[in-house]
Amino acid sequence: MFMYKRWMAPSLMVAALMMAAFGQAQAAESPGLGVPLSDSEVAAVDLVVMPDGRGLPAGSGDAHQGLDVYQRECRICHGDGGQGGPNDRLAGGIGSLATAQPVKTIGSYWPYATTVFDYVRRAMPYHLPGSLSTDEVYAVTAYLLAENGIIERDRVLDAETLPAVQMPNSGGFSWAWPED
Ligand code: HEC
Repeated sequence: MFMYKRWMAPSLMVAALMMAAFGQAQAAESPGLGVPLSDSEVAAVDLVVMPDGRGLPAGSGDAHQGLDVYQRECRICHGDGGQGGPNDRLAGGIGSLATAQPVKTIGSYWPYATTVFDYVRRAMPYHLPGSLSTDEVYAVTAYLLAENGIIERDRVLDAETLPAVQMPNSGGFSWAWPED
C-alpha cells in the first residue's frame, strides 16, 4: 500500500513545477514532432511525374546512352533488349493484348511514356532504386521506347519531348468514372 510520508510533499511539488516549466517551453516551440526537411531532402522524395509531363526534371538522354545504362543496370533481370527473364519482359507484344496470348509490356500496354520515366526513377534498378542520375533515367527510358519501336534511336528525350511520345495503347484505357 502507498504510504504517504511527510517529506514527499515538497519533492513532489518541485517535480511538478519542473514538469510544468518544461512543458511550457516545449509548447512554445512546436508539438515536438521533428524538424522541417531541407530543400534537398524534399527534392529526394518529390518524384511525381504526371502523364502530361508535369514534374519532369531538367536533363536528357537518348537510346544510345540508354543501351549502356541498360546493359549495366537492367539486363541481368530483364534480359537482352528487354525481352524478359528472370523478371518482366519490357519490350514487344504490341497488338497482342486482344489476342489469346496477350504480352503485356511497357510498349504494348502502358498508356503514357512519362510513366516509364516516373516508374524507373522511383523503383529501378530493383535492388537499388534511386541510384540512377536523371540523365541515365531519360536515356534508359529512350532505350526501352526505341526497343519497342516507338521512337527513333537518335531521339533525345527530355521534359519537352518525352510527354509528346505517343504510346501504342494510349487509347486502350477508359475512365472508371466517366465525366458527365
Ligand atoms: C534485380 C533485378 C532487377 C533489376 C536489376 C532491374 N529490374 Fe526492373 N523489375 C524487376 C522486378 C522484380 C520487377 C517487377 C516489380 C513489381 O512488379 O513490383 C521489375 C519491373 C520493371 C518494370 C515494370 C514492368 C511492367 O510492365 O510492369 C520496368 C519498366 C522496369 N522494371 C525497368 C527496369 C530498368 C529500366 C532497370 C535498369 C535501370 C531495371 N528495371 C532493373 C527487377 C529488376
